Amino acid sequence: MKPFFVTTPIYYVNDKPHIGHAYSTIAADVLSRFARVRGRPTRFLTGLDEHGLKIERRAQEEGLSPQDFTDRMAPPFREAWAELLCAHDDFIRTTEPRHESRSRDFWSMLEARGDIYLGDYEDWYCVGCESFKTEKELLEGNICPEHKKPVERIKEQSYFFRLSNYTQPLLDFYEAHPDFVTPEGRFNEVKAFVREGLRDLSISRTSFRWGIQVPGAPDHVMYVWLDALVNYLSALGGPAPAGESPLYDQFWTHGEVVHIVGKDILRFHAIFWPAFLLSAGIPTPTRIEAHGWLTVNGEKMSKSLGNFLPPRPLVDEFGPDVLRYYLMREIGFGQDGDFSHANLIARYNGELANGLGNLLNRVVSSFVRVNLGGRVPEFRQDALTDDDRDLIATATRCAAESAAHLTDIAPHRALDSIFELVAATNKYVDKSAPWALAKQGDQARLEQVCYFVLESLRWLSVLLWPFMPSKCDGLREQLGLRSLTPEVGADQWPNTFGGLVAGTTTAPGAPLFPRIEKDSEQAIYDRLGVVTTGGPKVAKAPKAAPAPKPAITPAADAPATDVITIDDVSKVHLKLALVLEAERVPKSDKLLKLQVDLGEASPRQILAGIGQHYAPEDLLGRRLVVVANLAPRKMMGQESQGMVLAASDDGALSVLFVDKAIAPGSRVK
Ligand code: ME8
Ligand code: MG
Repeated sequence: MKPFFVTTPIYYVNDKPHIGHAYSTIAADVLSRFARVRGRPTRFLTGLDEHGLKIERRAQEEGLSPQDFTDRMAPPFREAWAELLCAHDDFIRTTEPRHESRSRDFWSMLEARGDIYLGDYEDWYCVGCESFKTEKELLEGNICPEHKKPVERIKEQSYFFRLSNYTQPLLDFYEAHPDFVTPEGRFNEVKAFVREGLRDLSISRTSFRWGIQVPGAPDHVMYVWLDALVNYLSALGGPAPAGESPLYDQFWTHGEVVHIVGKDILRFHAIFWPAFLLSAGIPTPTRIEAHGWLTVNGEKMSKSLGNFLPPRPLVDEFGPDVLRYYLMREIGFGQDGDFSHANLIARYNGELANGLGNLLNRVVSSFVRVNLGGRVPEFRQDALTDDDRDLIATATRCAAESAAHLTDIAPHRALDSIFELVAATNKYVDKSAPWALAKQGDQARLEQVCYFVLESLRWLSVLLWPFMPSKCDGLREQLGLRSLTPEVGADQWPNTFGGLVAGTTTAPGAPLFPRIEKDSEQAIYDRLGVVTTGGPKVAKAPKAAPAPKPAITPAADAPATDVITIDDVSKVHLKLALVLEAERVPKSDKLLKLQVDLGEASPRQILAGIGQHYAPEDLLGRRLVVVANLAPRKMMGQESQGMVLAASDDGALSVLFVDKAIAPGSRVK
């Protein structure tokens, strides 16, 4: 298997990390975890870009030396990636000696090739971009279109790289590597730009000092982008002759190299970088993936708008897995997208709590525990029904498709495929109706159905691991499995149904994804400082549930005692409960004691006076409606923490069952 080397941009240390940076880093982490679980030798690199005029000026503003300033700014990045479970193998800072010496080597290779010459430079420069600008690129008044700030006139002696010589070689290279840049539309823009003809590139500066010294020319420091791009080599111990740096040989020379970058820095990666490498005679990367741009609640992220989102508060609120999942799921990779707190919560509740979490809960915490003693049953290959075969086919297809999408760097599509399996498995449970099987005493079929769901969950614990590593560990723990540990040479992507071993002891635990209730959403927004009352831009984030207008306004002369307002109705919390256990209360023929799942951390005990109409097993695994905010009370010496709703007339009584797989804890209204 070809070694896999994936990188993020090295971020400027002038600011703190925010979710834009997190987005690139998480994507690279997902790809690296996928490669690892397939058994590929894998290396994931991230780091920091610490030189240049922008950093030098920021340090001055802070009254610090540039090195002290960068030393102070670096830790929050490391911490952010650890908090987000981004398991990079290396973290490079361009001020490290290992980088500085390799950058000088790289310069010397371009020079030896005859591609560097000394000249005079006069042009516009945007410090925000750390990039030269032609007049054509500027807005009126010499404003950088990116940073909306005036550019500076630069006139100084400078070394140049003969980029103009690479116009044709680059076009030939693009032709020969049609997948070099993705998405395709962005590649086309790059090609169109190169076709116009490239100008030589100024690659040194003499008017400031914060950079790597040019070999043999101590007055010059290297252009920060040249220095920065070389990080991808220097972190591997390159450039180096074969045999000198094993990592470099393995991952750069013989590996598949994928650079994940934002679309803002595509030109540097798709034009300058391969041109430098062609000049130096070093292999080019395999692929540059230029992803889109994130806005926050519909606005461009910026400090002044107050929507600059550092990852930590989001991690504290939702956990790293959920944030990773949301970012990879919500935004089509390659396209621009919006981060919205409301969408995050909606996806969390809909896909993670109701879809995946509920699937685990409804089977592991109920039927497997109650009817199978918590043990994984036998997989009966000789007793497959059509539904069983369909589920196997769906699982096999979804696993193959999600792998193909991840290979193709389309994580959002991979998640589409994976959630097809979640939905199919939930449907399988509904159709197989284990509660009915339990009631009929059809133990053999009940076991098979449980096996299928458990095995499907096992598959999901691998398929989702690149996205949600710690939740998948939690899922596996409940299934009685060890955490996933990648191993070079061992492909652990699921492809054969039936891997879960009979007799494994499951460990039902707290819900993996407890629902976020409507009434706690506002508190979350408050903690995160999300403005929900602003203009239409943030309208997606629901407001604090405004006191709804009464639907019925009692007329002055109406018998006020009988008519209530919607406010009164909302005081009663009716919720869907999944019955996990049911038994008779000793010495009472009326009372049944139920343990129900209300989507909370642990089940609740509810007593119901329905014992003359229902046997305990009639209720097991069923969904019913309870009053969830009734003060606890004691009956026959036992506490009841809620009330089951039932309709009754003189002779009969009927519990209000819910006939679809609505998630436990869902509001009934
Ligand atoms: O450009 N949406 O560093 P940088 C999506 N040092 N991605 C975003 C984003 C947003 N709103 N904001 C930032 C540099 N990013 C150079 C790179 S590489 C040899 C040198 C991500 O700190 C995205 O990956 O400005 C973007 O390309 C990168 O951060 C820019 O980081
Ligand atoms: Mg930038």
